[in-house]
Amino acid sequence: MSGELHIPTDRLPARGGRSLVHHKNGIVLLFDVEGCLYAVDDRCPHGGASLFTGRLDGRWLQCPAHGLKFNLDTGCPAGLKGFGVRRYPIEWRANECYLLLDETIAEGVSA
Ligand code: FES
Repeated sequence: MSGELHIPTDRLPARGGRSLVHHKNGIVLLFDVEGCLYAVDDRCPHGGASLFTGRLDGRWLQCPAHGLKFNLDTGCPAGLKGFGVRRYPIEWRANECYLLLDETIAEGVSA
């Protein structure tokens, strides 16, 4: 079963900014890059470090622990497929933001 996570307007990042949203199974990071919104897990797939303080260069997010860089469009490092940070599709309905979650996360959403 899949689900969704509503993002309250006051939790959305300002243009060029970042924010985070807690749910029962973890944290989702939100990035606004030139007016585009991206949602990824706050967990580096390499060693589990938080990505919240990672350096953002355009659409590349660098993990503060060991420096891997993840493309926010794909979730993957340059030249790699099948390894990357978990991304969440975003849907807008009636000017409200929703993240589309897989079943693992959806079961833990706290509302
Ligand atoms: S924990 Fe992120 S690159 Fe190692």
